[in-house]
Amino acid sequence: MQETFTQLIEQCKDALKAVRDRAALEAVEIKFLGRKGELASLMKQLATLSDEEKKIAGKVANETKEKIEQMIAKAKEKIAREEEKTRADREWVDVTAPGVFPNEGHLHPISQAIQEITDVFAQIGFVSVRAPEIDWDWYVFESLNMPPDHPARDDWETFFIAETKGQKARGEKGRLVLTPHTSNAQVREMEKGKLPIRMININRTYRRQSDPSHTPMFHQFEGLVIDEGITIAHLKGVLDYFAKSFFGPDRQIRLRPHHFRFTEPSFEVDISCGACGGKGACRICKAGWLELGGAGMVHPNVLKAGGLDPEKVSGFAFGWGVERTLVMKEGTKIDDIRILYKNDLRFIKQF
Ligand code: DAH
Repeated sequence: MQETFTQLIEQCKDALKAVRDRAALEAVEIKFLGRKGELASLMKQLATLSDEEKKIAGKVANETKEKIEQMIAKAKEKIAREEEKTRADREWVDVTAPGVFPNEGHLHPISQAIQEITDVFAQIGFVSVRAPEIDWDWYVFESLNMPPDHPARDDWETFFIAETKGQKARGEKGRLVLTPHTSNAQVREMEKGKLPIRMININRTYRRQSDPSHTPMFHQFEGLVIDEGITIAHLKGVLDYFAKSFFGPDRQIRLRPHHFRFTEPSFEVDISCGACGGKGACRICKAGWLELGGAGMVHPNVLKAGGLDPEKVSGFAFGWGVERTLVMKEGTKIDDIRILYKNDLRFIKQF
């Protein structure tokens, strides 16, 4: 009997020698220690022995079991060590190798400009509002002192929303239009009934136009300030502050008389040319100045349309194109404004 047990230990030793992984080890464990394994069947035979023999053989059987268990535990440790080693090999990193940089994106130049413009005006207390991008004729034209059929409307080359079956594009406040400027924010803001107003509305705008300096979809920012005692001096101060913050401290602005239906007096705002320093005789500018956009003192009829009393309050407004403003900052980098919307990464990556 003793010999049979010794043989069993030897057999197990041999079997373990061939083991290379966990699955093989498990198979050996089941074969020798399992419920129907080699050791269990030897134990069964013990029942046939006499009491005296049983005592001795039982002791040997237990020692054999312990020995086999120890051998298997050792083999398990060995396999675990080997697994750890191959994992470390697999995960080995050369910390001195040059890294692989992820392709990092950034905001579109127009989004960057919008953020910058918003920040500049926020510094002097302008609150960001968002007037609708599709609005009623009343807010876009009529309340801004442009009655139906007024020729001034032609300047805006507006897209009107078409009526379709079951879908009306006309209401109490006229037809629905894709806003051709951001000035619709003016009367909408006055209607909120809270003074003073110091707002900036930056939004998409649409006009039927496409050439190197125009896209059918573009962006404008509209400023509006209304309170008691607001004058042209305030307007000039704000525009000058904006020009110096956005373009640089040595830039100047000038107001040139102009005509808009919704402001009186009205101005075109020019900024001194950054390329020639305002001297003129330069490829970029006309006589030292670049045209930025429109501005003026809010017309009494517009104040009235917004429910305000022109005898008590006054205000100024300005509305400029974001694309145009960006082009003026970047100079010759953008010689055709339409490239901003071509999704050409070679261009976008320069910002
Ligand atoms: N809305 C005008 C345009 O798109 C620009 C403009 C001119 C806005 C004068 C104003 C303003 O607020 O006061 O051409």
